[in-house]
Amino acid sequence: MATFTLPKNSKITGKGQTHRAEGAKRVQRFKIYRWDPESGENPRYDTFELDLDDCGPMVLDALIKIKNEIDPTLTFRRSCREGICGSCSMNMNGRNGLACTTAMEDLKGEIRITPLPHMEVVKDLVPDFSHFYAQYASIRPWLQTVTTTPSGKERLQSPEQREKLDGLYECILCACCSTACPSYWWNSDQFLGPAILLQAYRWLADSRDEMTGERLDDLEDPFRLYRCHTIMNCANVCPKGLNPAKAIAETKKLLVERQL
Ligand code: SF4
Ligand code: SF4
Ligand code: FES
Repeated sequence: MATFTLPKNSKITGKGQTHRAEGAKRVQRFKIYRWDPESGENPRYDTFELDLDDCGPMVLDALIKIKNEIDPTLTFRRSCREGICGSCSMNMNGRNGLACTTAMEDLKGEIRITPLPHMEVVKDLVPDFSHFYAQYASIRPWLQTVTTTPSGKERLQSPEQREKLDGLYECILCACCSTACPSYWWNSDQFLGPAILLQAYRWLADSRDEMTGERLDDLEDPFRLYRCHTIMNCANVCPKGLNPAKAIAETKKLLVERQL
């Protein structure tokens, strides 16, 4: 049987610090993954306590409070605070999600926060998205046309054609789905993963795009597309309620149909 083990310097052996919320009546404990590549030390978990009577309701509120009031070195991404930018994706109590739309009251007990799984870590809760973005660029995520339109004319869609983009255009590229996908964990060097495949289908489904054949040629590959085994973790964790597995199935259907 294969044995999987973390590289030595990735093992969590560092001694964590504990910050208590003295005198608080409603205490929430957090165990937060910490790693600073410049320290030369192994990762560790730090424990922080907060008074829930003095903190906003979301996990991101807690992280911002910890950073502002307890430990300014705590590093994480965030921007919009309303589930639109996709930057605060992380793993909370074993489940990927957005810290800004995850309410602390929905998580039981001590809240353990780690970076998205199976990505290189830049620092603390910040994963390296370089490979993910390179894969996104590889599907050419923009409208591609061959024909020209009279100057000043838009390419119009009927309401029915536009409706086909619902459930696709809302993706915020947070990577919660791809980093919850076991196939992506093991094959992310070649498998595009659910997020990028959903984005690829977004352009296949767009009635205005004229490169459908070339886009399908690019995807017809045992690894880029066909590593999806319909495990459905992706649809299960998507914070926007999207279903990448369905988009992948639709893409496979298009590939079969064009051979008929
Ligand atoms: S359905 Fe496919 S893409 Fe989604 S988690 Fe499963 S294997 Fe990954
Ligand atoms: S499909 Fe959902 S989980 Fe995946 S990147 Fe898009 S918004 Fe995030
Ligand atoms: S801060 Fe933008 S999605 Fe959470």
